[in-house]
This record gives sequence, structure tokens and C-alpha cells, in this order.
Amino acid sequence: MQALIVDDNATNVALLQCLIARIDNCQSIGFTDAVEALNRLPELDFDIALVDFVMPEVDGLQLVKAIRAIPRHAHVPIVMITTAEARDVRIETLTAGANDFLAKPIDPVDLRARVVNLLALRKAQQALEQRAVHLQVEVDKALRVLVAREEEIVWRLSRATEGRDPETGGHIRRMGLTCRILAEELGLGPETCRAIPVAAQMHDIGKVGIPDYILFKPGPLTPDERVIMQTHAALGEEILSGSDALLVRIGAEIAGSHHEHWNGRGYPRGLAGEAIPITGRIAAVADVFDALISDRPYKRAWTLEAARDHVVSERGRQFDPACVDAFLRRFDDIVGRDTDFAGPERMGRPTAA
Ligand SMILES: [Fe+2]
Repeated sequence: MQALIVDDNATNVALLQCLIARIDNCQSIGFTDAVEALNRLPELDFDIALVDFVMPEVDGLQLVKAIRAIPRHAHVPIVMITTAEARDVRIETLTAGANDFLAKPIDPVDLRARVVNLLALRKAQQALEQRAVHLQVEVDKALRVLVAREEEIVWRLSRATEGRDPETGGHIRRMGLTCRILAEELGLGPETCRAIPVAAQMHDIGKVGIPDYILFKPGPLTPDERVIMQTHAALGEEILSGSDALLVRIGAEIAGSHHEHWNGRGYPRGLAGEAIPITGRIAAVADVFDALISDRPYKRAWTLEAARDHVVSERGRQFDPACVDAFLRRFDDIVGRDTDFAGPERMGRPTAA
């Protein structure tokens, strides 16, 4: 263990270093110049500090405050050495962050008892800190595994309901990533930005309740079939509603609102403008854009530019203008490599009704 000694009297420093050397496994570094000690505090490693109260230029109080201001020294025990008997001086010293006092002239027995006890405290403190760091690492590791499993389960279930076609997994993953980029660009909170790429993958989960003859119909739907198809939004919201988990709550919000239109002409509720949850407004842009650039049984994929122009043409009609502006600002990121738009998988899925 290392002791820091600061006293403007060289004889006192020498005496303290001599006494410290008699304690097992204890070394010391001494300063007679408090200014030098102050300047070197950030680079010094020590487990206890013995600081004289009365010193020129920088006094003991200032030094204690400086030690406490450095995060890794924040809990190092500090003993103030003073001849001052005044009670208010002691209170001031404790308030500044000192842990104990030693009166001059120093009694070697007192010094040994104080230092040994405070170093034992320091050791226990360090053991606790190491344990806390170890536990945090373990918790972070377990959390990463849990989050990865959660994301995988959502993706697999969403893919299963996405027309039960394994080739459509790329659409929901890309759409989720686009949602995250838009959420970040629009300044949504970090928790929402973390949850939205996974939550958005459940946007069409209500299609699990749509009959196959409608879901898999290769051509355009009749008006009656369209009405049935459109129930997937409310159904999805109902499936996901009532959860305490943010991920599922955002999933419910998106499922129930990703077909609402900014101008109020969407479904299921015909909400308009900011009455539509922002997550749903984001998902609407991401879903339509990705559907346009994907091959479908009844259509070829549009080019990225044509799909982008369509999104722009619906600014203020189907889509929130702010979402479209964010989409344009981040277009290169959205169609970049990370979002897999350049990947081979562009195969169809049932109609995005
Ligand atoms: Fe949908």
C-alpha cells in the first residue's frame, strides 16, 4: 500500500515516512511542496493521504478538496495533521473530505493505529469496488445475451406471421433498421431508439388472423377482402396491448398505427397529424419504402430513386413531413450496407395492405 505525505516541514515528512515504512507492505511518497503535490495528484497512486493543515500557498483544506475532486481518489482515506485544537477547524476539515485527524507532535502509536485501520478500510473498499466491477461485467454480459434472444424471438415470430415465408425476414429486419435511423434523426429518446428496430418488426403481426386466401392472393384484393386485410392493424395492436415491456408497448403502438395517414385518410382509426403516434408515423415511411423496393408476386421491385420519389410525393399526405425530411437527410444511411438493401433477398411477401 502507498501513503501520500504532504507537509511543508521536511523533518516531519522524514519522520512520517520512517513511521510508515515500519508498517507491513506500506511505502510512501513525500512532498514538502504542496503546490507540486497538488499538480501531480492526477498521476499519483496512493491508498492513504497524510496532509498537514497549515502550509504556505496551498493549505491542507485546499489539498483535501483537490484530492476529493479526482474521481479515482474520491474514497481514499485522508488524515489531517494539525496542531489546531479549534472545533470549527475540525468540522471544516471533515466537511472538506478528511476522514481523521492526528495532532502534532505526532505520537507513533497513534499514527500506526490510524494508518493501519484506515488501510484496512481501504482494502475492503477496493475489494468491494472490484466485486462491483466484476458483477457489472457479468450483468452486462447476461443482458446482452437476453437482448439478443429477445430480438431473435421477435424476428422469428414476426417472420412467421409475415406470410409464413422465410424469405421475407429481410424486409422486416430492414424496415426495423430504417425505423431506428429515422427515430435517431428525429431525436427520439435513447430507449425508444433502442427498442424501435425490434418493435417495428412486429408491425404486421396481426396478419396471423387474416385468412390465407386473402393473405396469399396473388392479385389485387376486392373491396371486401381489403376491409378484412385492413383489420390486421387493430388485431396486431390487440395482440400486443397491455404489456409492461417498452419493446412490446412500442410494438403495439406501431402495429395499430402504421397504416394511419398524416391527412387522416388511413386506418384503422383515421387519425391525422400528430394524433398518430410518432413511432407509427416513422414505421409508415419505413414500411412503404421497403415494400416498394421489394419484389412481390404481382410486381417488380422499384428502383431506390423511384421509391424515394414516391415517399417524397406523399409528404404531408400519407406521411408526416418531418419523417419524410428525416428520411431524405438519412437516405444514404438507410440504403447503405448495414441495412442490407443491397442484399440478395428482395423476395415477395403478401400485399402490404
Ligand atoms: Fe401492415
